[in-house]
Amino acid sequence: MCGIVGYIGPRSAPPIILNGLKRLEYRGYDSAGVATIAEGEISVRRDVGKLKNLQALVGTNPLGGNIGIGHTRWATHGAPSERNAHPHLGSTGEVVIVQNGIVENFLELKEDLIAEGVEFKSDTDTEVIVHLIEKHYATGIPFVEAVRQTLQHLRGANAVVAMSTREPDKIVAARMGNAGGVVIGIGDQEMFLASDMPAILEHTRHVTFMEAGWMTVIDSNGYEITDFEGQPVEYKSQKISWDPVAAEKGEYKHFMQKEIHEQVRAITDTIGTRIDWKTGKVTLPELNLTPELANKINRIVITACGTAANAGMVGKVYLEKLARVPVEVSIASEFRYSDPIVDDKTVVMAISQSGETADTLAAMVEGRNRGATLWSIVNAVGSEAMRIADGCIPMHTGPEIGVASTKAFTAPLVDQYLLAMALADLRGLLSPKDQLAMANELAQLPTKIGTLLDREADVEKIARAIKDIDHCLYLGRGVNMPIAYEGALKLKEISYIHAEAYPAGEMKHGPIALLDEEMPVIAIATQDQWYEKMISQLEQAKARGAPVIAVATDGDQRVADLADHVMWVPDSSWLISPILTVIPMQILSYHVALLRGCDVDQPRNLAKSVTVE
Ligand code: F6R
Repeated sequence: MCGIVGYIGPRSAPPIILNGLKRLEYRGYDSAGVATIAEGEISVRRDVGKLKNLQALVGTNPLGGNIGIGHTRWATHGAPSERNAHPHLGSTGEVVIVQNGIVENFLELKEDLIAEGVEFKSDTDTEVIVHLIEKHYATGIPFVEAVRQTLQHLRGANAVVAMSTREPDKIVAARMGNAGGVVIGIGDQEMFLASDMPAILEHTRHVTFMEAGWMTVIDSNGYEITDFEGQPVEYKSQKISWDPVAAEKGEYKHFMQKEIHEQVRAITDTIGTRIDWKTGKVTLPELNLTPELANKINRIVITACGTAANAGMVGKVYLEKLARVPVEVSIASEFRYSDPIVDDKTVVMAISQSGETADTLAAMVEGRNRGATLWSIVNAVGSEAMRIADGCIPMHTGPEIGVASTKAFTAPLVDQYLLAMALADLRGLLSPKDQLAMANELAQLPTKIGTLLDREADVEKIARAIKDIDHCLYLGRGVNMPIAYEGALKLKEISYIHAEAYPAGEMKHGPIALLDEEMPVIAIATQDQWYEKMISQLEQAKARGAPVIAVATDGDQRVADLADHVMWVPDSSWLISPILTVIPMQILSYHVALLRGCDVDQPRNLAKSVTVE
């Protein structure tokens, strides 16, 4: 999704902006640009493709200035091209803007502007904004007022950042709806703006997150925030403790690989302070979970997209099994328009890595409007999904940069397990003995994940064996059924191999027709209550000539005899097993994609945070 960076201060703006954009690359983009004001003039550089193209352009055609804005674009209106890339300059050359999000009514606004004689230079929705600002600015009002009046015309959700040569000592930014965050970075005699923290972390950790409906004017000495009516709003700045090194690849080839390996630490941190190891009792301080609430809840609706929704499907099993609360998993883009049956005894719980996903945020708002208690499990600190919830479980995984989600899948599995334990305890369903036993098993989880990571080379061998396939079928049952879905999603999104997932029992109802030598089956067949049934599925697949790759419990000779390849996982209780079985799935997808020469961290057509519908 688009990324925005702004700078004003004593330093040269272009390198700060380009570096900031680099840190936002994980969001996905197809073109990039930067604009600065120097000697009373705006200069713009834009290019399609990777940021290195823009860097090269700025190298050969340098920019000056101590004030500037930059943008990475993920095309929504108008093809990826230089002319559609941001920043967009108005007709007078005095105003320049970038936008993240969408202007829904841009066509009617564009028609009106064209009728007034405005010439458009791009196919974007964004360009209407700059022309409208210019139109209002021409009446002699201050720049901030011109931006404010422009916002009154716009429908949609976006973040807009603008500057003008006539007031070259300020940047104006506005956030309308939930199309993505804007963070204001407060430096020493310098200020920053960005869509996300990594863009400015190396300069400051002192930040203010802008809410929807706020505008800010920054200059090198500070900032002011108002609402769209110009009234001051109450806001807080805060210190963020992320380590900038954590946003780097470090020793790994790709962020995805690094993040797969970070799961030991992420899960350790996730369990960390939340369990009293003497009693096994779980505390989730940010959730505001009271015994009254725990006993009042009669239904939980988990809402999320993609990988986060797959995590929710595992959570459903945990919450129903342990806390005996009925749980529904509803894909956010469906839930938001489903006229859902929700009341004040329902918890709507969103899961989101970015905390910015437009569909997930809209689903949360829908739940809130219908009286539900709103919970969220979120990774990005300070994001919307964290802030608007009544209670939150922060993921504690650190920034996830690779577009394919990995550590932000396993962390919410553990979070939901902890939540199920806490709820079960408060609802009188968990004996002290069981609680302690469960806590003890969780304590062993990081070590078991470490064991799985040590086996990366074995999984890589399997990746070599299957790297040229065109299709495959993932199967799982029970608590590992969602892992089949997640395994297939991981493979298809980064290697572009067609992968389908089914609950294994469904194979006989259709997908079995696909099986032959060209259609490998990747199945989770760990030793749990579904084991015999999974063995039978593997036999059926073999009988049709399909190569079988199984995820199996260490030492299982039966599976070893049946399967062509086995990805081994340490023994565990059935409830904990998906937190382990997904790891070889992630490693397999990573190596297959690598062997096929794919761009693992930034797969085609995908964005890290999907802040538009
Ligand atoms: C898959 C992936 C996506 C996201 C989905 C939701 O690897 O990353 O499917 O899981 O777009 O994103 P968040 O969790 O940010 O709401």
